[in-house]
Amino acid sequence: MDKIKPSKKLNALPPYLFARINALKMDAYDNKLDVIDLGMGNPDLPAPSHVVERVCDTVRNHPRTHRYPQAKGMPRFRRAAASWMKERFGVSVNPDTEVLALIGSKEGIAHLCMSYLDPGDVVLVCDPAYPVHFNGVVLAGGTVYSLPLLAENNFLPDLTKIPEDVARKAKMFFLNYPNNPTSAVVEDRAFLKEVVAFAKKYEILVIYDNAYSEITFDGYVAPSFFEIEGGWDVGLEFHSLSKTYNMAGWRIGWAAGKKELLYPLEKFKSFLDYGAPTFIQLGAAAALEGSQECVRAQVEIYQKRRDLMVRGLEKIGWHVDKPKATMYLWLKIPDQFAAMGSLAFAEKLLKDTGVCVAPGAGFGACGEGYIRMALVTHDNRFHDVLLRLKKIMREEK
Ligand SMILES: Cc1ncc(COP(=O)(O)O)c(C=O)c1O
Repeated sequence: MDKIKPSKKLNALPPYLFARINALKMDAYDNKLDVIDLGMGNPDLPAPSHVVERVCDTVRNHPRTHRYPQAKGMPRFRRAAASWMKERFGVSVNPDTEVLALIGSKEGIAHLCMSYLDPGDVVLVCDPAYPVHFNGVVLAGGTVYSLPLLAENNFLPDLTKIPEDVARKAKMFFLNYPNNPTSAVVEDRAFLKEVVAFAKKYEILVIYDNAYSEITFDGYVAPSFFEIEGGWDVGLEFHSLSKTYNMAGWRIGWAAGKKELLYPLEKFKSFLDYGAPTFIQLGAAAALEGSQECVRAQVEIYQKRRDLMVRGLEKIGWHVDKPKATMYLWLKIPDQFAAMGSLAFAEKLLKDTGVCVAPGAGFGACGEGYIRMALVTHDNRFHDVLLRLKKIMREEK
């Protein structure tokens, strides 16, 4: 059966580091270890109750919503997304032609790669990055050119380091701020202006992944790429309800941008899927149109968790910069464990303490030396996490 094997594209994907961690997690559960799972960015808080009510009522009383949905998104959802963007960023998008519903932004990003890339096309991808930014390119047959995100550059890519021939060849450029996994934000819009000028000069499509735009702290407000002059002409922006409204399992998000830039994704998706279920789109519209107090309340919860963990880690001798956004802490592996590498260190944490984290290397080569901790468990569990980490910090010193 030598002929029957997965495609070269699939085989070209880097090994899935999280699979190893997941297997260990399952072993730990089997061995009745008290696992505290801070591995995945999977919100532990529920979706807002008015959204849940809306969906339950719709499913129960409106059976027409059980039928195939409108693939590009029902007008109601697209209008809600457009109004939200206007209200939140002051950006005007036409709901009929400039908003496309997605079955989560991960789906949209992967399919965007397939709708734009031909074999060998070069894509600029930050390293570390949310894995679909590079895996989506590989699955589409494209070539990733990695832009290191370094602490000394505030985890922003240095555009001046991109060789001229690479810039000329590049077709797309992925950016994601607030950033997963580093938690970095764009403090100075001059950086985004530089990106726009670069993209215009070299005719590159910027994919701005704004999944964490609402999870921000200490008064920081994340921008839309479209707030930057010229951003509209060179960019597409991806939004998700997963983190903003704790709707990660509902699978709903949207892409926005100029009709001509967005249309290839709509066309591509029309061959593959029927879109997000209508009742989910209606729930999402209720989330976007309703009071945003629920978002403020959960951001407060994340901020408290962040403060507790940053303070607690500092006390046990593990320094971490206080992030201004996202639900992640991006932690340098303590010196005494640095030589092990992030996967072995994450394995050790899980086996010895039951605390599950994501190894930095899973987000790219430049993620090596770090682990990512997602602040997604009951508030009182963070004290347990700190006690367990304290023990491990002491043990090895
Ligand atoms: C940067 C980033 N983009 C996109 C996504 C995917 O979001 P969705 O649930 O909408 O597919 C995630 C999820 O963790 C993410 O971290």
